[in-house]
Amino acid sequence: MIARGRFITLEGGEGAGKSTQIKRLAAWLELSGISVAITREPGGSPEAEEIRRLLVDQSSRAWDGIAEALLVSAARHMHVRDTIQPALEGGAWVLCDRFYDSTTAYQGYGRGVDLVVLDQLRRIAIDTLEPDLTIILDVDVQTGLTRAMERRGGETRFEQAGLSFHTRLRAGFQALAATEPHRCVLIDANRPIEAIELSIQDLIERRFCI
Ligand SMILES: Nc1ncnc2c1ncn2[C@@H]1O[C@H](COP(=O)(O)OP(=O)(O)OP(=O)(O)O)[C@@H](O)[C@H]1O
Ligand SMILES: [Mg+2]
Repeated sequence: MIARGRFITLEGGEGAGKSTQIKRLAAWLELSGISVAITREPGGSPEAEEIRRLLVDQSSRAWDGIAEALLVSAARHMHVRDTIQPALEGGAWVLCDRFYDSTTAYQGYGRGVDLVVLDQLRRIAIDTLEPDLTIILDVDVQTGLTRAMERRGGETRFEQAGLSFHTRLRAGFQALAATEPHRCVLIDANRPIEAIELSIQDLIERRFCI
């Protein structure tokens, strides 16, 4: 029987470095002969990507927090069923760029949806599945937004509402790390890319004895 793979999620605000670090982590794991599947949320399976389009399409109507939570939960259900579970069962390590902690941070801490409601949605969408490890990249709000904007080649100043939203997000991620220390590890992402990469490798070596 093939051993089930590990399920690792990367979390953090915009520009924290999730997409950068997930690629580096995948390459490093593959060097040890581990088979890796990279995926992301919202999205990660055909139906979930359809829902992603609804959420990111600027011309769509403005969803409120509950509607967003329901949409991402429906997407997550399909993503887990069709992509994550099959990969884990096939022995791959699944690295997922955002997962349910982003719903807690964005729709909960960011948009004010009741955290108990979000927990109920999580159970409906994915039952008892939880990541073996969640890496939360913690970055100063302004630094993260500047990185994200530079990547898009856009404006680098932010209006106050955006800043306070992102400040609540960061506090939400920090609270998650404090509440679930067995699963979530906060990594200081204000440092250079290579330093963060080494911290993640060190964490994985210690956690999974590879
Ligand atoms: N530690 C770092 N120091 C400086 N720049 C970084 C660092 N990590 C990532 N970057 C750069 O910042 C930009 C955003 O990084 P990345 O796309 O990995 O962030 P992200 O967390 O995936 O953001 P988003 O949530 O918007 O997808 C990229 O241009 C990347 O090269
Ligand atoms: Mg990204």
